[in-house]
Amino acid sequence: MAHPEAIIEVDNVTTAYGGHVIHRDLNLTVHRGEVVALIGGSGSGKTTLLRLLLGLEVPQAGSVKIFGHPLGRCAARDLERVRYRWGVLFQNGALFSALNVFDNVALPLRELKSVPPDLVKPLVMLKLAQVGLKPEDALKRPAELSGGMVKRVSLARALILDPQLLFLDEPTAGLDPDSSKQFVKLLRRLRQELGLTVVMVTHDVDTLFAVVDRVAVLADQHIIASGPLAEVARLPHPFVRNFFLGHLERCAEEDVRRFRLSLDDTSDDGGVPAVLCEEEPAH
Ligand SMILES: Nc1ncnc2c1ncn2[C@@H]1O[C@H](COP(=O)(O)OP(=O)(O)O)[C@@H](O)[C@H]1O
Ligand SMILES: [Mg+2]
Repeated sequence: MAHPEAIIEVDNVTTAYGGHVIHRDLNLTVHRGEVVALIGGSGSGKTTLLRLLLGLEVPQAGSVKIFGHPLGRCAARDLERVRYRWGVLFQNGALFSALNVFDNVALPLRELKSVPPDLVKPLVMLKLAQVGLKPEDALKRPAELSGGMVKRVSLARALILDPQLLFLDEPTAGLDPDSSKQFVKLLRRLRQELGLTVVMVTHDVDTLFAVVDRVAVLADQHIIASGPLAEVARLPHPFVRNFFLGHLERCAEEDVRRFRLSLDDTSDDGGVPAVLCEEEPAH
């Protein structure tokens, strides 16, 4: 079988703010169609790593390639072309409060002028429907939206240019458990429908269970491990132990599979699958 195409290649990156080294010799590869979660302690440099991948930070050493383009060395026009192939959902949603939902989602289309003006409305309405928003939500301002709706609008905006690559920074943070579950279901569906490659920062173990193919652990300034959840959860590193404390039993491949199957159930009672209710035995 041919090796899957590498969409993201981070090679021996060092990042520092002033004298403070955030990443040292950090390596990470993400292949087409993968959903990779980045986990790590608060302040470990997850958001900074996303910013490096977006070309918003420049590493002190090493290289970052996206779709085969080295970010630091791209001509401005090349970088623009690469940028429109990804979508980003920032940690706080980053909607423009003065614009309504429609105009927030339409913004990238209008900036890029890639479609005729009369296509903007049908495309925006289609994206809103795709993320489960109603047509009447289009006229609301961000202040009138619930946390879950803000995430959906941000996701619609991230998807409006039909990106191949999606970056999500803490997509379920701040959501109540039910909205979180709905959002995760939405991600799963979009991933299946659109064949996206996704890199997401998350602390949410349920999100890891529901959508993630591979978990990359950022600790001690680099990616200390990356692999399937069942493998990574058993690493003896203190951060990993703490992160999965009380969840280890659930991380067996079979349990993750059962959890995913339970999410495919279209009924929406908000109930928690049985496998999640089991207490971890004391040891
Ligand atoms: N623009 C900046 N200038 C200086 N220090 C920064 C900046 N952004 C982040 N940092 C520092 O870099 C470290 C990693 O931050 P961040 O990437 O936001 O961590 P995480 O997302 O994992 O919580 C933190 O110590 C933070 O204070
Ligand atoms: Mg962060």
